[in-house]
Amino acid sequence: MKKIKIAPSILSADFTRLAEQIQMVEQQGADWIHLDVMDGHFVPNISFGPVVIRWIRKMTDLPLDAHLMITEPERYLADFQRVGVDILTVHQEACPHLHRTIQQIRKLGMKAGVSINPATPVQTLEEILPEVDLVLVMSVNPGFGGQEFIKSSLQKIRKMSQLIRSVDRPIYLQVDGGINAEIVPDVLASGADVLVIGSAIFAASDLCQAYQRITERVKKYQMV
Ligand code: DX5
Ligand code: ZN
Repeated sequence: MKKIKIAPSILSADFTRLAEQIQMVEQQGADWIHLDVMDGHFVPNISFGPVVIRWIRKMTDLPLDAHLMITEPERYLADFQRVGVDILTVHQEACPHLHRTIQQIRKLGMKAGVSINPATPVQTLEEILPEVDLVLVMSVNPGFGGQEFIKSSLQKIRKMSQLIRSVDRPIYLQVDGGINAEIVPDVLASGADVLVIGSAIFAASDLCQAYQRITERVKKYQMV
């Protein structure tokens, strides 16, 4: 069994104490730091971009996992590489020339990921799968932290996991949106191996305690 990874999403973090909060999740064993980049076009919200990520790069040595919720992501790939992003994920819905975009990400030396919105079928990724390092199944409509997990995503994760198993290369199956300690076992049982978790960690009154509730569930799942 692949080791399950946790990628805390800093979207819900307290940016006045960002370095401290990143250090806290790092001490709790976080594997990657998930960065939600939003442009107000592809999604109805605006977050941050390379200028801010350049500072985040100085706060941690963990791999930076950037999730681009932006139109025309191909215009900014080199910018994200320059500020130290390790894994760069674009949305299938934002890329008419997805194959080219994925090739460009890999050529820049980053791992390449592709994401799909809740209404996009997994089959739309069949042809690109052999080219990617990561698939991100959105379990909420992207744009905001703190939304409720869409239950039908579990079935979709299962389908995606099957599709990935038919490809002869390691591909991470990442799930993002509405994940809390309660839903973790179901998400893992469906085949996910990277959990993006935002508000369940950063909006909790006790960050460390909240993180531990999640890792307990992950460990328990890995033991059975
Ligand atoms: C949603 C983002 C998520 C979000 C997750 O558009 O892609 O990464 O920050 O936050 P929660 O865990 O609160 O749904
Ligand atoms: Zn995300």
